[in-house]
Amino acid sequence: MPYIGTMQQSLFDADGGKEALAPGATVLRGFARKRDVALLAAVEEIATQALFRHMVTPGGFEMSVAMTNCGAAGWVTDRTGYRYQAHDPHSGAPWPAMPAGFLALADEAATAAGFADFVPDACLINRYEPGTKLSLHQDKDEADYAHPIVSVSLGLPATFQFGGPKRGDPVRKVALEHGDVVVWGGPSRLFHHGVLTLKSGEHPLTGRRRFNLTLRKAL
Ligand code: SIN
Ligand code: FE2
Repeated sequence: MPYIGTMQQSLFDADGGKEALAPGATVLRGFARKRDVALLAAVEEIATQALFRHMVTPGGFEMSVAMTNCGAAGWVTDRTGYRYQAHDPHSGAPWPAMPAGFLALADEAATAAGFADFVPDACLINRYEPGTKLSLHQDKDEADYAHPIVSVSLGLPATFQFGGPKRGDPVRKVALEHGDVVVWGGPSRLFHHGVLTLKSGEHPLTGRRRFNLTLRKAL
């Protein structure tokens, strides 16, 4: 393929269009890719203040995915349950502020997926290493399900699972690449989803890691 063709392909991939996943759920291919360096720098800065940690589920299992948060509210789990709280339980300090670039990306992605005026107040940051996974779950600790979820993938690719309202519903598998954004809300707001065990690999910006930003209106 001539060089110009390759260029056109990569430009296309950088804003690679929309794929419907379920009613109210959309994959925006490459939507965050042009901002990848800034997003990852912000994650690194946040993690110097609120360290990545392996939280414990109410059932007593340590999660394989390491997590931290930014924004007015952060999602936490421990033996007493799942919840949002304003302070990092490790440091006692408020979570780092939500960077302006996260707010802008969340609103633009939500708008592109058909949800206007999305203003998240919580961003859960997940860090996956090869061998880690996130079991099927619903995002249901938020106060009002009228707001969508905006989920940004950075680094190593992963297989995302997107099911239905019931845990046993059939699941669609979607390969998510660096820069892809998934938005779900409305009829699929409470659909089950998860991430299959991350395969090993090396990403030029993140090394042997995948990061996911889950932007939510929690309060
Ligand atoms: C999540 O559901 O919290 C994260 C999803 C992902 O990592 O893609
Ligand atoms: Fe989730």
